[in-house]
Amino acid sequence: MVVDMTTASFFLLALLHILTGIDGQHHHNSANMPAPSFGSTMENITVINGRDASFTCVVLNIGPHRVAWIKADDKGILAMHDRVLTNNARLSVLHSDLHTWTLHIRDVHRSDRGVYMCQINSDPMLSQTASLEVVVPPDILNEEGGGEVLIPEGGMARLSCKAKGFPQPRVTWRREDGQDIVIRSGALQKQRVSIFEGEVLTFHKITRSEMGAYLCIASNNVPPSVSRRIVVNVHFYPIIQVHNQLVGGPLGSNITLDCMVEASPKPINYWARESGEIIIPNDKYRMEELDVNTYTTRLRLHLKLSSNADEGGYKCCSKNSIGDSEGTITLQKGWRRKNRLGGGLTTTTRAGLKSWTASMTLTVLRWR
Ligand SMILES: *[C@@H]1O[C@H](CO)[C@@H](O)[C@H](O)[C@H]1NC(C)=O
Ligand SMILES: *[C@@H]1O[C@H](CO)[C@@H](O)[C@H](O)[C@H]1NC(C)=O
Repeated sequence: MVVDMTTASFFLLALLHILTGIDGQHHHNSANMPAPSFGSTMENITVINGRDASFTCVVLNIGPHRVAWIKADDKGILAMHDRVLTNNARLSVLHSDLHTWTLHIRDVHRSDRGVYMCQINSDPMLSQTASLEVVVPPDILNEEGGGEVLIPEGGMARLSCKAKGFPQPRVTWRREDGQDIVIRSGALQKQRVSIFEGEVLTFHKITRSEMGAYLCIASNNVPPSVSRRIVVNVHFYPIIQVHNQLVGGPLGSNITLDCMVEASPKPINYWARESGEIIIPNDKYRMEELDVNTYTTRLRLHLKLSSNADEGGYKCCSKNSIGDSEGTITLQKGWRRKNRLGGGLTTTTRAGLKSWTASMTLTVLRWR
């Protein structure tokens, strides 16, 4: 007997070992029997990691022969007839009817991928192969922990979302509120995209309008896709805008003073008289704060113009951990129509230790 270490001989040796006697007994009769053949082609399988997979081998006229399952990559014999020959507890074989042999792999691992062979120990040996591919749904590696970043306005930020899976997942980014992402490639070049592709999303000179929740989504067509939410907080000192710097009305009228504040983190806002006396809500004064967006608040002071003492300067003030700012509105009686003059920015700002004045040019308008 010529022994070369091919799959076939490997198989035959193993078979003789296990089925001593049986094989020899039938050997003499095999010439009178129709030769075995495959009844169908074995199908390639793609399966999601952790699920089960089965190869089915249909053999006609098996006669005295035996069916074995072999991992073609390493020539390991997995099973023979109805016995599993490896110590892989996830494997089982089933001989369900006269013609059908099934190799079942439970809880498939990535390492199970490869080419599987169904072999018949006839002479010549017969075999057919099919491959098992194991795909893995995407997973986002959470090395950076917290889903929130704080960046001073004008600063730089990198959001990173590394994903694994098989095939390698595609990572895309979008804003939760549906607004575009601004990609700056050069000093002047910028591009707006609704979806950005790549593991790292970089902000150069971030602006307040880029503040919000960003979602990175990893997908490789193996369900389920996964996403991660990162909140980008841009910090800046309060800026106050006063549209009507001069407001008036007859004695006895109800007056509303109006300021817009942009600040992040959320500021503490209050109103004061020009003297610095803080206004507290009571029968005479009522205050309102309306959120316009995540960093913009509209401040309103409602008051009754009941005496000459109510005339003069009112300040809306805003303060957060980065700095503070105030805007001034002048109230005069005897003026019926709202003034539309002097719209713009009137603000004093102190940012951190560096104290500076942005613009405090309130035009003094005289009323005739
Ligand atoms: C199985 O995949 C191999 C490549 O891996 C291919 O050559 C073969 O034709 C496929 N068989 C079937 C039945 O699709
Ligand atoms: C002023 O507002 C109060 C309620 O806030 C109301 O009762 C009063 O009638 C208003 N006066 C004028 C002149 O509109």
